[in-house]
Amino acid sequence: MSTCKLLLALGAAGALAAGAALAQSPNLGKTISEADIRAWDIAVLPDGSNLPPGSGTAAQGATIYAQQCALCHGENGVKPAPGYSPMVGLQKFDRMDAPKTITYYEHATTIFDIVRRGMPFMAPRTLSDDQVYAITAYLLAINKLIDEKEVMNAQSLPKVKMPNAGKFIIRFPDRI
Ligand code: HEC
Repeated sequence: MSTCKLLLALGAAGALAAGAALAQSPNLGKTISEADIRAWDIAVLPDGSNLPPGSGTAAQGATIYAQQCALCHGENGVKPAPGYSPMVGLQKFDRMDAPKTITYYEHATTIFDIVRRGMPFMAPRTLSDDQVYAITAYLLAINKLIDEKEVMNAQSLPKVKMPNAGKFIIRFPDRI
């Protein structure tokens, strides 16, 4: 038997053994609670599915941004610290080499998702959902994608029209 065939045979035996082990579970661990799942199940989909309750405005977001984001991404979203992305600027779809800003995103809901899951960089998941809505409103307003008085929440955010909407090609449409 060649080495390759031997490895395949060993792999198949391993998979069979794993299947058998699953069938007769040793009852280790405990079932995860719904509350624990909810803490991690925070992905917001492009159409706004899974957006949490809450709301915020650009004026509220401006204060939080100045305190927690400007340090890296620049005052008012311009002139960031070296190596960090600005938060303002229209990112044209035909410039793949230019730094990406939030205006590149196809969906406004992505801004909420990335800020809630990853920012501020040194303390992710410390912002409340209201604060994330407020920052999202602020970022959209300084890019003139919404009026600065508009309230962002689970209903209004998915309706914001992004400049690159509809221009992305789905690489594997059959996998959706
Ligand atoms: C300590 C520096 C730092 C701070 C403070 C910080 N960020 Fe970031 N931010 C980063 C880095 C580094 C990245 C790029 C890496 C990544 O996307 O994970 C990033 C990426 C982002 C992106 C994605 C940018 C893109 O071009 O797609 C957004 C949006 C963003 N930050 C928003 C915020 C907001 C809002 C705050 C404040 C709540 C914040 N950041 C605070 C360092 C920081």
